[in-house]
Amino acid sequence: MIVLGIETSCDDTSAAVYNGKRLLANVISTQLVHRKFGGVVPELASRSHIRLILPVIRQTLEQAGLTRSRIDGIAVTYGPGLAGSLLVGLSTAKGMAQSLEVPFIGVNHLEGHIWANRLENERLTPPFIVLIASGGHTQLMQVESWGKYQVLGRTVDDAAGEAFDKVAKILGIGYPGGPAIEKLAEDGDTKYIRFPRARLKSAGPYDFSFSGLKTAVLNHVQSIGQTETQFHIKDIAACFQEAVIAVLVENTFQAARDHQISQICLAGGVAVNKALRQAMIKTADVSNRQVSWPAAALCTDNGGMIARVGYFYLKQNQTSSLCLSPVPALNF
Ligand code: KG4
Ligand code: ZN
Repeated sequence: MIVLGIETSCDDTSAAVYNGKRLLANVISTQLVHRKFGGVVPELASRSHIRLILPVIRQTLEQAGLTRSRIDGIAVTYGPGLAGSLLVGLSTAKGMAQSLEVPFIGVNHLEGHIWANRLENERLTPPFIVLIASGGHTQLMQVESWGKYQVLGRTVDDAAGEAFDKVAKILGIGYPGGPAIEKLAEDGDTKYIRFPRARLKSAGPYDFSFSGLKTAVLNHVQSIGQTETQFHIKDIAACFQEAVIAVLVENTFQAARDHQISQICLAGGVAVNKALRQAMIKTADVSNRQVSWPAAALCTDNGGMIARVGYFYLKQNQTSSLCLSPVPALNF
């Protein structure tokens, strides 16, 4: 059985083919148009998806060595994400499913991020805790079995990736912020300043908050001025990154301890961060737990993870109605 997966929830236009054993192709076209704006511009994103989606699907099928007639089902992200962007992928998937007379499966983008771990390791078995940390979301989930998830905590304001992007904007180092801050932080001094690790009394025990940290960086930069900021830019990046990582690691392992779970998985764009991975490994070693993550191309948004989830549901004959609409605020 061959499933085509389509992902257009934010600023990556992606399509992939999964055949039940592996990805035959996973083409990702990242829209560069947003860079000069320091963040994703929704209108530009949906227009770019319209231009890119059919060439990306064509390239995916070419790479997989398949014709359209070989497709047994089409899976697509229907939320969460930007309404206009989701609509492009969803309309394309519906149109193709109808013309090819194959089933259509709407996929939750966050479930896709979780399943990227299964794509990396087909033997991965629940229960496990997964930390999804991306530009749009930061949440801790317990995967009880495949298809059965419990949300343990989530951000009450900014997502971790969003904090990286906003701090990068404050420092004037471009978008996306995560890779740029990670690079600067490599040579920075983490003892330069201690930024706050938020613990909100009103929030749940595993919830996150990053907006206070972002404001603390802004206040610091404004207080020292442009010249000093440039002089200490690596140190500021390192101290900010350390604060984000400390909270991500602490909440994840607290949840794992409280729920007596030994396997931890990482997902989403922030999971590419090497310092986060190292900190996770260090804490996992001390607490006798295992931590794993997908390859970088499967951490960030991609059609492969959507095709994989679609395959799982199609196998169980769980398909979606062609009336399915985008759900920008979809959750579990
Ligand atoms: O999962 P993703 O591709 O898209 C969303 O679903 O949001 O994640 C993108 C986010 C961006 O905020 C980006 O700055 C962040 O992931 N990111 C990183 C790194 N690479 C990407 N954050 C920290 N370190 C990185 N190396
Ligand atoms: Zn994502």
